[in-house]
Amino acid sequence: MESLPSLRRCLLAQCRRPSRPLSPLYLDFLAPTAVRAQRRHASTGTSGGTKPQYTLSKKQREFLESALRVNQAGEIAATLIYTAQTPQIVRSHPHLRPLMKHMYDQEAGHLKIFNGLVAKHQVRPTAMYPLWEVAASFLGWSTAALGREAAMACTEAVETEIGSHYNDQVREILSWEADAVRRGEELDDELKEMLSIFRRIRDEELEHLDHAVANDSKEAKPYDPLVDVIRLGCRTAIKISERI
Ligand SMILES: [Fe+2]
Ligand SMILES: [Fe+2]
Repeated sequence: MESLPSLRRCLLAQCRRPSRPLSPLYLDFLAPTAVRAQRRHASTGTSGGTKPQYTLSKKQREFLESALRVNQAGEIAATLIYTAQTPQIVRSHPHLRPLMKHMYDQEAGHLKIFNGLVAKHQVRPTAMYPLWEVAASFLGWSTAALGREAAMACTEAVETEIGSHYNDQVREILSWEADAVRRGEELDDELKEMLSIFRRIRDEELEHLDHAVANDSKEAKPYDPLVDVIRLGCRTAIKISERI
């Protein structure tokens, strides 16, 4: 598993990239229609598959760019939350070490995937990264300081928002797939693969949510204000990262 510092270095390198050069990597399904058609013609001289390929509108491409930006930001936040929580939780509850490691490892895997997709599709990472880094580390540290139940309530709140966010993205891409079927077209293979990645990660986030509830997240005191504030913070961070 790649270490967190190297994943963060990768993210920061992307943040420092000054412009969006038209590299071969940009010539993918997120590229404008004219560029895609040119590429297909140059490479095969045909549309490539047995069915015509579904072409994304400008709005759909913007949706994907914003989804990749938010997902990368969310995963860096998740790795930082678990990094900040783990030492305190494991010190007082050693039996939770395997669970904390399992959840961290999955988050680091998600982050690696989105670092790759963001770089490949030349998506601008969120400019809010430094603020999210501080906020996520503080959230992890402070909830772990309140105890195991509060740390698990934090996981419950974060995963509820992130899981439903991934679910919205899956639903949106499925609606494009249904539209493509109606037109006798099919989605780009890369987009189909992205859909299956989003589905798998959504399921893993919901698995974290189940672990949190199984480990007494509901026993946190005060449960309601803590979970409400964290969920509101997540929703706000998502909205901001979609644009900035
Ligand atoms: Fe994740
Ligand atoms: Fe998660």
